[in-house]
Amino acid sequence: MQLILIVIVTLFVSSLRANEVLVFEDASELVENCAWKIVTVIDGNNKKGEKTVLGLATGSTPIPLYEALIKITYENHFDWSHVVTFNLDEYVGLPHGHEQSYRYFMDRYLFSRLAFPNYILGIKPENIHFPDVRLCDGKDISLRQFTDDYEMLLACEGPIDIQILGIGTNGHIGFAEPGSSFSGSTMVVALSESTIRDNARFFGGDINAVPQKAITMGIGSILKAKDIILLATGANKAAIMEKVLTSSPAEDIPATALHFHDNVTIYLDKEAAPWKQ
Ligand code: GLP
Repeated sequence: MQLILIVIVTLFVSSLRANEVLVFEDASELVENCAWKIVTVIDGNNKKGEKTVLGLATGSTPIPLYEALIKITYENHFDWSHVVTFNLDEYVGLPHGHEQSYRYFMDRYLFSRLAFPNYILGIKPENIHFPDVRLCDGKDISLRQFTDDYEMLLACEGPIDIQILGIGTNGHIGFAEPGSSFSGSTMVVALSESTIRDNARFFGGDINAVPQKAITMGIGSILKAKDIILLATGANKAAIMEKVLTSSPAEDIPATALHFHDNVTIYLDKEAAPWKQ
């Protein structure tokens, strides 16, 4: 693996803990490095006979990471059979099988390709967990009970070994929007106007087609992960990443909560880190 890591920056923000910030020449170097980090953790746990719990994110940013993981898997017959996954979030209100649902996204970009027929090392469907309120269909349970149950499942299966995050241009992680409590658990949220606007590109540019609500792990749930990886690529993430890295933790920028975690690695490409040129 040829890794061109152009700079490793340790950024100290006032008296807060340090985050490791890695800035890569381009997105493909970034995802290769990140994919190997994830595979190395899974492999270490496999060798000890232990499961690995992964927290997974959607959005366009992790797609190349999932492709890199699949490539490594095919080339190395990598074993996913002891991996348990929890997805961060899902829209509320999209019908089953909707192409913009996050479940559809994950099936398309990762799960179906790690669980192809007869691949015994593939991920097991029963190890995939999703905060999908449609799972309540036909059952007499409230959304509150559903969110509590997801949190309970996280507590039973967890802690998450590696939580993968993207970031919204308003600093949201998962769908924990600005103003979310840093100690919050899985919850149903109203999406902010800026998120609806940003995500309209996936709905043919029609902001009215974007669901107004979502279910998401809370920031408190995310911070329980042992290791957190945040990915941001492209110039449209430069402003928010600079804010996240230089601001004191404040609930109006959800990703600043990561300053409270001991083990966060932030993966940026050059475009997302123009302040390092
Ligand atoms: C959505 C997801 C987030 C993701 C964000 C950024 O709002 N809920 O988890 O980080 O989009 O998406 P993108 O990577 O496409 O910029």
